[in-house]
Amino acid sequence: MPVQSQFQSRPATMTVATARRYGGPEVLALETMPVPSPAPGEVLVRIHASTVTTGDWRLRGAAYPKGLRLVGRLVSGLFRPRHVVPGVTFSGTVVATGEGAARFAVGEPVFGGANSGGHAEYIVVPETGAIAAKPMSLTHAQAAALPFGAATADHFLRHLGQVRGGERVLITGASGAVGHAGIQIAKALGAHVTALTSPGNIDFVGGLGAEEVIDYTRQDVAEAGARFDVVFDTIGHLDFGRARGLLRRGGRYLTTEGGWREGRQMLVPWRRHGHVLRFGISEPDATQLLRLAEMAEAGKLAPAIERSFPLAEIARAHEAVETRRRRGVIALDMRPSSGDQPNLAAA
Ligand SMILES: NC(=O)c1ccc[n+]([C@@H]2O[C@H](COP(=O)([O-])OP(=O)(O)OC[C@H]3O[C@@H](n4cnc5c(N)ncnc54)[C@H](OP(=O)(O)O)[C@@H]3O)[C@@H](O)[C@H]2O)c1
Repeated sequence: MPVQSQFQSRPATMTVATARRYGGPEVLALETMPVPSPAPGEVLVRIHASTVTTGDWRLRGAAYPKGLRLVGRLVSGLFRPRHVVPGVTFSGTVVATGEGAARFAVGEPVFGGANSGGHAEYIVVPETGAIAAKPMSLTHAQAAALPFGAATADHFLRHLGQVRGGERVLITGASGAVGHAGIQIAKALGAHVTALTSPGNIDFVGGLGAEEVIDYTRQDVAEAGARFDVVFDTIGHLDFGRARGLLRRGGRYLTTEGGWREGRQMLVPWRRHGHVLRFGISEPDATQLLRLAEMAEAGKLAPAIERSFPLAEIARAHEAVETRRRRGVIALDMRPSSGDQPNLAAA
């Protein structure tokens, strides 16, 4: 059975970003590759926006947290990147479906996550993968931000941290891709949020709903006197030893930057106060993306886009991410030029 397609003739080639070796942003290049065809059960998406994430920076530079360097290389490629086209998020429009793929219609706006391939004009993904209908309340850039920062915050706070209404949550790196989504998700779970940030981001994180904001350049959080049910350390600002001093009885320390030490600490039962450390890897699926999309439609979650770069400026986008000084998300704009596709939904 032939695939369903929005076009009489689909373009044969597309522009993609590539990283064929590990290194700084200068290893990134633009190349032309064939537009893939959807196999049975797959959909072809014309990408309107993607994001450049800390994950993209780590994969491009083999810049893994201490203690995970060998494991990181084993996963991403020992001598050179296993996946040549980076990009782990996308938002766009379905332009063709493979045989038997019926979950999405041609022309439908969707967003999702993938192991690679998001920094391209087109991507094919299994319809049963991490893909969902794009929330109409968000732009494509905002929707493309959900599968990384928001999905990670959701995985840590809801799943690993089991945050409940009325609990007190401390979030470090509160202005980042993960942290700023974490504030919104913790608030949606009914928590009281304290955000740790630098002076330039105080208004930003306060505006996202944090009840209290601590400027870590002026005050050591340990001296603020507050105790928390959950410490969500998105940046490795603390370690379990320091975080334990901030936790209430039964408190959970969640870290996105775990290594061997945290692996060992996870196994130790800190029975005296019932403190636990939890670390994990966020792998979004369709169920989670649907939940995030519902939160967005309900006005509870809206990723902040600090800046959007065209695909041709991908190296500059990586430089912006690598500073680790940002407010929300760095996006890539890959909207089709006029005349490319007549029936696309608006951004
Ligand atoms: N385990 C997983 O599944 C998973 C998934 C996604 C991400 N991650 C990891 O989570 C981490 C956070 O990612 P992200 O994209 O949100 O990070 P990010 O955007 O690069 O940084 C977050 C924020 O942290 C603050 N910051 C930077 N250096 C700091 C320092 N030394 N001390 C305190 N705060 C500092 C910055 O704000 P200020 O300028 O205000 O300080 C920055 O905006 C990354 O290491 C990433 O690799 C893990």
